[in-house]
Amino acid sequence: MTGITIALSKGRIFDETLPLLAAAGIVPTENPETSRKLIIDTNNPDVRVVIVRASDVPTYVQYGAADIGVAGKDILIEHGGEGLYSPLDLKIAKCRMMVAVREGFDYAKAVRQGNRLKVASKYTKIAREHFAGKGVHIDLIKLYGSMELAPLAGLADAIVDIVSTGGTLKANQLVAVEHIVDISSRLVVNQASLKVKRETLQPIIYAFAQAVEK
Ligand code: PRP
Repeated sequence: MTGITIALSKGRIFDETLPLLAAAGIVPTENPETSRKLIIDTNNPDVRVVIVRASDVPTYVQYGAADIGVAGKDILIEHGGEGLYSPLDLKIAKCRMMVAVREGFDYAKAVRQGNRLKVASKYTKIAREHFAGKGVHIDLIKLYGSMELAPLAGLADAIVDIVSTGGTLKANQLVAVEHIVDISSRLVVNQASLKVKRETLQPIIYAFAQAVEK
């Protein structure tokens, strides 16, 4: 059997992938929240997990440094999905990509007036495509986090960000004004690995698919 490397990000994706791995008989020996290790062994000597930033999962899988990985649809849209086979919606880490503004900001009017809207986001591709689709001109400001601050600090009129419970928007007096796309995590597979390591990978993909349907 050929060794398999699985790329995961720590936090919600790691936690919610654990039951799917268990369904495939794979149990990591450590938790990245408590261990500083970036390569984690599993109960199966032929399977290891590498811990990478969520936005780096598609890159590891694309170049074959990992055979499979779990990445949010948001990350996959931004990455573009080159060299990746994405066979399965795992229906985990669900959230929504939204446009949000300061409470009291007249978004409908700002969009209608045809002025350029200042939009801040980590998700520049999603933001650009969304507003292009509406025919709204924007000045796009790339951020790497804490996007909720941008409208409050006067950096932008609107943000494009992920909303899960809505708690972060609420705590910062922001409101969601548009829903762009529903997000969940997908299994991504390196296309070459799928051919070369088919015998090992296919049962894992099948076990994941069965577990998702339950
Ligand atoms: C995401 C997102 C929001 C928050 C939304 O950030 O950017 O800040 O979660 O969740 P809520 O609706 O449940 O409050 P995350 O914690 O993933 O960190 P990030 O800023 O690094 O993306």
